[in-house]
Amino acid sequence: MNTSVEPYTTEDGREIGGVVMEMKNITLRFGGVVAIKDISFDIRQGEIRAIIGPNGAGKSSMLNVISGFYTPSEGSVWYQGAPRPPMKPYQIARQGVARTFQNIALFEGMSTLDNIMTGRLTHMKSSMLSQGLWWGKAQQEEAEHREIVEKVIDFLEIQTIRKTPVGRLPYGLKKRVELARALAADPKILLLDEPMAGMNVEEKEDMSRFILDVNDEFGTTIVLIEHDMGVVMDLSDRVVVMDYGKKIGDGSPDEVRNNQDVIDAYLGVAN
Ligand SMILES: Nc1ncnc2c1ncn2[C@@H]1O[C@H](COP(=O)(O)OP(=O)(O)OP(=O)(O)O)[C@@H](O)[C@H]1O
Ligand SMILES: [Mg+2]
Repeated sequence: MNTSVEPYTTEDGREIGGVVMEMKNITLRFGGVVAIKDISFDIRQGEIRAIIGPNGAGKSSMLNVISGFYTPSEGSVWYQGAPRPPMKPYQIARQGVARTFQNIALFEGMSTLDNIMTGRLTHMKSSMLSQGLWWGKAQQEEAEHREIVEKVIDFLEIQTIRKTPVGRLPYGLKKRVELARALAADPKILLLDEPMAGMNVEEKEDMSRFILDVNDEFGTTIVLIEHDMGVVMDLSDRVVVMDYGKKIGDGSPDEVRNNQDVIDAYLGVAN
């Protein structure tokens, strides 16, 4: 692993390690639209890295590049010290990067528990066929997955809604179930696309606490897109600011808050 940057401990006692992922001169085009223009930045082990910027700035597109869902038109993504080749969907799931979506993408008719179980799918070895042939082995595997899922349910305090069909849950809880499903995959890097959008103050506080707890307890590296500047300032170690597909700022929350380009393009409007 590339540890070219010295590890350090944050003021609140979290350990930040070396660089785990590096975006090198990423450009992403959709036909004539240039969603990302020559952007470089890195992500360090254990940090909470925010991406902010106005609507259409290219934030979700960047998250899709980080996850490997989009292959950049130009530039490369380095992961754990080596360039990462273009990936197939099953490879994306297995590399240890899990995500939530800007628009909730859960199975509304299924229970909370079953939705979270789908987060384990990429780890399941037994196919349907082998479950018929090797019933005992598959049953043991199922029990192991259940145990991990139960831990996630406890951690996110959603025991009381485990049997509830997700379609009946209020918005804030649906977002929490989505986080639970991503966590069930036991990710090294967790990508959150506006996890607090549309939430009330109390729901935002809950979600902020869970994001911090995940980072603190499991050392999970988190990349977070968020519009609420208060949340970004509270949670993140470093912030990338995007505008019209370009990077216009990169640094600590205080640094970007005082960056004139960022104020002009974004903060002036948001505040
Ligand atoms: N699949 C796609 N095909 C064509 N254009 C796209 C596609 N995805 C995104 N775009 C365009 O790329 C630009 C960046 O979009 P993106 O969704 O990444 O922005 P964003 O910063 O996430 O915005 P928002 O805050 O509204 O979520 C926009 O102009 C958008 O219309
Ligand atoms: Mg978006």
